[in-house]
Amino acid sequence: MSIIFSEKDNTFILHTKDTTYQMKVDSYGFLLHLYYGRKTEGCMDYLLSYADRGFSGNPYDAGADRTYSMDALPQELPCQGTGDYRSPAVIVKNADGSYGCDFRYKSHRIRKGKYHISGLPAVYAGEDQADTLEIHMEDPVTKVQITLFYGVLADLDVITRSADIKNSGGEKIYLEKAQAACLDWLYGEYDFISFYGRHAMERNVQRIPVTHGAHVIGSRRGASSHQYNPMMILAGHETTEDAGSCYAMSFVYSGGFKGEVEKDQFDQTRALLGLPDEQFSYPLETGEVFHVPEVVLTYSGFGLARLSQNLHKCFRDHLCRGKYKDISRPLLLNSWEAFYFDISGASVYELAKEAAGLGIDMLVMDDGWFGKRDDDNSGLGDWTVNETKLGEPLGSLIEKIRSLGLKFGIWLEPEGINEDSDLYREHPDWVLSIPGRNPVRARNQLVLDFSRREVVDYIFEKVCSVLDQGKIEYVKWDMNRSLSDCFSRSTADQGKVMHDYILGLYDFLERLIQRYPDILLEGCSGGGGRFDAGMLYYTPQIWCSDNTDAIDRVHIQYGTSFGYPISSVGSHVSAVPNHQTGRLTPFRTRGITAMAGTFGYELDLGKLLDVEKEQIREQIREYKQYEMLIRKGLYYRLTNPQKETAGAWEFVSEDGAEALVGVVMQEVHGNMNVTYIRLKGLLSGCRYQEQSTGRIFASDALMEAGIPLPEQSGEYRAYQMHFKKI
Ligand code: GLA
Repeated sequence: MSIIFSEKDNTFILHTKDTTYQMKVDSYGFLLHLYYGRKTEGCMDYLLSYADRGFSGNPYDAGADRTYSMDALPQELPCQGTGDYRSPAVIVKNADGSYGCDFRYKSHRIRKGKYHISGLPAVYAGEDQADTLEIHMEDPVTKVQITLFYGVLADLDVITRSADIKNSGGEKIYLEKAQAACLDWLYGEYDFISFYGRHAMERNVQRIPVTHGAHVIGSRRGASSHQYNPMMILAGHETTEDAGSCYAMSFVYSGGFKGEVEKDQFDQTRALLGLPDEQFSYPLETGEVFHVPEVVLTYSGFGLARLSQNLHKCFRDHLCRGKYKDISRPLLLNSWEAFYFDISGASVYELAKEAAGLGIDMLVMDDGWFGKRDDDNSGLGDWTVNETKLGEPLGSLIEKIRSLGLKFGIWLEPEGINEDSDLYREHPDWVLSIPGRNPVRARNQLVLDFSRREVVDYIFEKVCSVLDQGKIEYVKWDMNRSLSDCFSRSTADQGKVMHDYILGLYDFLERLIQRYPDILLEGCSGGGGRFDAGMLYYTPQIWCSDNTDAIDRVHIQYGTSFGYPISSVGSHVSAVPNHQTGRLTPFRTRGITAMAGTFGYELDLGKLLDVEKEQIREQIREYKQYEMLIRKGLYYRLTNPQKETAGAWEFVSEDGAEALVGVVMQEVHGNMNVTYIRLKGLLSGCRYQEQSTGRIFASDALMEAGIPLPEQSGEYRAYQMHFKKI
């Protein structure tokens, strides 16, 4: 059992393979955090120190003891109203209008297996792969109860956290803030690593020292967003890819979020992650329970590479689901950058014919096939096949494409609606909008009120009637704007709408995968605007960015790799000049970059030269050979492309016997310096053969001294090297 309760000193000790997490129920019933880090033994409550601190209040039951203050003690789930003036994880507004809750320990339960959360995505594990600790606490005055959940996946060095908040009092209360995870450090200097961006340029890495005051990231957009990702890292100043301490917190949720890091008056650091507290005021009637979405924690004492690998493994094996979890996925060609809205059955069929000849497995028909949909100004919401535009029923197009030996996939955006649509004309009240106000438009569309069951049910039926028209084996689930005007006509409590919207989305997705278990779902939100652990529970791959430029992708995929497995990173080879940047890159460079992801194509094959088609055949052969190494291998960032000329990465099989290295040069100069790439993760003391040249190297030489890249002339050259242990 990875969870120990020591009765002698009322301490909970959670052990994973290489880490330990400790907390203590103290004499007043408060749950104090003691330690999280490298594996340790024994009770560590000796770390706590008590002092009379001016302007740091004392709980009444501490009597005359002025040295006991929640303002200075490290906590598991700090609540507003206990005398802790740092940022809290939970704020309750009570029936009498007062703010405050004071949860004290009542009991606990330790059990085998990992807890589930009803209606929400969460990490899962077999009975023997995880243990759960539940700590039951109660506010003695209001009788509001909280159960803290800790899921311990020992082999993965992962601890998950969630909570249930139950109103056991007699009157309605409101949750004004509800976050599942808090990490308190008693001392220490940290860097805060976060991932910021914009549409078509997601997840740039920012590393800044934690100073006094709060550093806040988050999203008010109703989606996790392009702008900040709900994943954050705290690392020592000296921590590198290969050495040093670091902690990751990743939110398993796809709506808005708030992440805070605060260095307090005593130089202690607190990190919080969870639901946002703006436009959030969640009502709980007597007896009702609120499930706080999960946060995944992992610690690495061996640098950032290991931290990412922990998350990769956890998400790949214990969060993603579905038929394709462990088997080869169909290699797809998407119609978007080939035709945009200008598609017809004939053009899609022609594209499929070309694809079949090159060894592509699946044709995906993107936007433009339904309703009145010739651009993004109309049609969204009308999930009826536009047979006039297609020139035939969907079923017959699918059959024709299948008879070429290809699978068929389709694009959907179930949450969106254009005002110029039959659905809007029929149900103008089904959108999120504030009565008497004109809503904010984005991409000339509005958002359906997915907090309402009847809206979700209606769209679900419509979508099913499309999916039932033929053998559809893939769905790209898109969402092309941020939420605004979050007012629902179904409730008087508007502070619940944004969360209920996400519950509606999850309900839809769950029903979809239960009804069509064989469909591969790919998430998307204008590219990577909803790239989060919550979506991965339903969609094992997510379109990483609308930007398919190979050089920009090196950066976007670099940032994404810190938190998410490569098997989830949707990445395609597209045409040049690139449609987002106008940049010209070699075909091979685009291929090598896209291979650090789910790999596919997104261009008009009919416009390619024969030599390019031959390159596609070759790339597909390569990708199929490497697919499982890429999907399941340990991933290493070999360079930082934000600072270095080369973007380089590596996949190493878990047994260390094989490694695949990708390198993209971002610059070219006259009389250029030689670039050396140092490998990682090989077995020490062994010899490896590079497969294309046949050259043999000592593994330690490859890791310590590296390998010089052969000189190549021209811009944006790329290299791929495949090493096998001999
Ligand atoms: C979004 C997606 C694109 C494409 C278009 C279709 O922008 O990210 O890949 O599907 O929508 O409208």
